[in-house]
Amino acid sequence: MNITDFFTYCTGLTATLDQIHLLNSLIDSKSKYILICAGRQTGKTLCCAVAIMYFCFELKRPIKILLVAVDDQKSGEAPIYSKIKEIFKNHPEFRPEAIIEGDVLYKRGFETKSGVYVYAKNAIESKVRGTSADVVFCDEAGLLKPEVIMSAYDCLSGETAKFIVLSTPPKLSTHIFNKWLENPEKEGFEVYHWSEETTNWHSSTELAFKLNNYSSQRYKTEVQGLGLLKAERTYFLNVDDCVEETATVLEESTNVVQVGTDRSHIWISIDWGISPCPTVIGVVEKLGSRFRVLEYQEYLMELPEEFIPKLAAIIHKYDRIEEKPRVYADSKPIKFRGWLEHQRVTVDYVDMLQHKEFMYAQLQDIFKTNHIRIPDSFKNLILELKKYHPHKRTGDDWVDALAMACYQPQTPLGKHQYGRAVAIPNAIGSWSY
Ligand SMILES: Nc1ncnc2c1ncn2[C@@H]1O[C@H](COP(=O)(O)OP(=O)(O)OP(=O)(O)O)[C@@H](O)[C@H]1O
Ligand SMILES: [Mg+2]
Repeated sequence: MNITDFFTYCTGLTATLDQIHLLNSLIDSKSKYILICAGRQTGKTLCCAVAIMYFCFELKRPIKILLVAVDDQKSGEAPIYSKIKEIFKNHPEFRPEAIIEGDVLYKRGFETKSGVYVYAKNAIESKVRGTSADVVFCDEAGLLKPEVIMSAYDCLSGETAKFIVLSTPPKLSTHIFNKWLENPEKEGFEVYHWSEETTNWHSSTELAFKLNNYSSQRYKTEVQGLGLLKAERTYFLNVDDCVEETATVLEESTNVVQVGTDRSHIWISIDWGISPCPTVIGVVEKLGSRFRVLEYQEYLMELPEEFIPKLAAIIHKYDRIEEKPRVYADSKPIKFRGWLEHQRVTVDYVDMLQHKEFMYAQLQDIFKTNHIRIPDSFKNLILELKKYHPHKRTGDDWVDALAMACYQPQTPLGKHQYGRAVAIPNAIGSWSY
């Protein structure tokens, strides 16, 4: 049976032209690296599940197939493997040829009498490592950590060595799937790409609803299966979900732990600005692994004599008997050292050059896990967060301050990175350091 007929035999559905092209390449030994990028619910996983059944029961060459995917929380198994099991269920005629030793093994794979092995692994590096396979499938690769994808790739051995990655384009701009998608030929991939719009099992009403209600980015990725251009990608995910309606968190939040309870800490950051950039102070409250933005101010074109007392006043507002706020400030330029100390503020100076990458990785994670709340009145911060990308040179002072405020250094700040400098007045009455 050819693969198109086999698809219909297994699923009762007629494969689309796009799917037929893909199915043929999935079983073609000449196709080595395959990238499948398509909208949601367009049959990516189904095609791969059918191809695996084809390897097992039509081609019957003794090979090992590794499936790597995030387990579905409800069923506790990978969606691609659930699809295979469903085909088994609907076609008992496959069963005698498969060696399925009890349900435990069946949950994580099976073997056929002709020597095809199928292993379904949860996308955890330690689980994936150590398997050797001729064919590797990474399903919904956008949800997999790049290390896991590469560990899966490292499992490949033998002449067949086929690597298949399928996903809806991930939102995270730095994800390896997006990198491959940008220039697939250079990376050695054949690309299969299709949109929900060209399938006949998504109605025009459904598509119109999505067009009206999804953001343009979401429509492009989730429906059309298109990768986003650099300018369209967001570095921080879920920014909109993290915005709170309450304009003033302190007064109006009733269902959350109030500032001043012993479970929370106040963390403050100061990003010094040299004209035309503003000096920005950001105040966040940390509750366990969650953050709330409490206050933000910026000072532009003001002398230190003018704005330092204002900064100190903000900081002292958050002094508590049991704990003073933690204050981080950019260690550069050093001319600002000592000013706050004169106002009885203890400051840790953070070398942004050394720490920026970690700070941003942490902040990205905080947004990814939806662990921050920003009142909607902080319009500038929200705008900068949405526009931010790593090579941006200007207009990210507020984001810098937020990254620093939420920062938890993995290694303690060293002597060179912080210290309490003392300001010394010079002969003409201004400060030098
Ligand atoms: N050729 C087809 N004809 C009709 N319906 C199809 C066809 N291919 C797929 N479908 C439908 O699409 C559904 C989704 O398939 P599948 O789970 O493989 O999509 P997916 O692209 O992996 O989706 P997701 O992005 O959610 O992982 C199937 O359950 C089936 O109902
Ligand atoms: Mg899928």
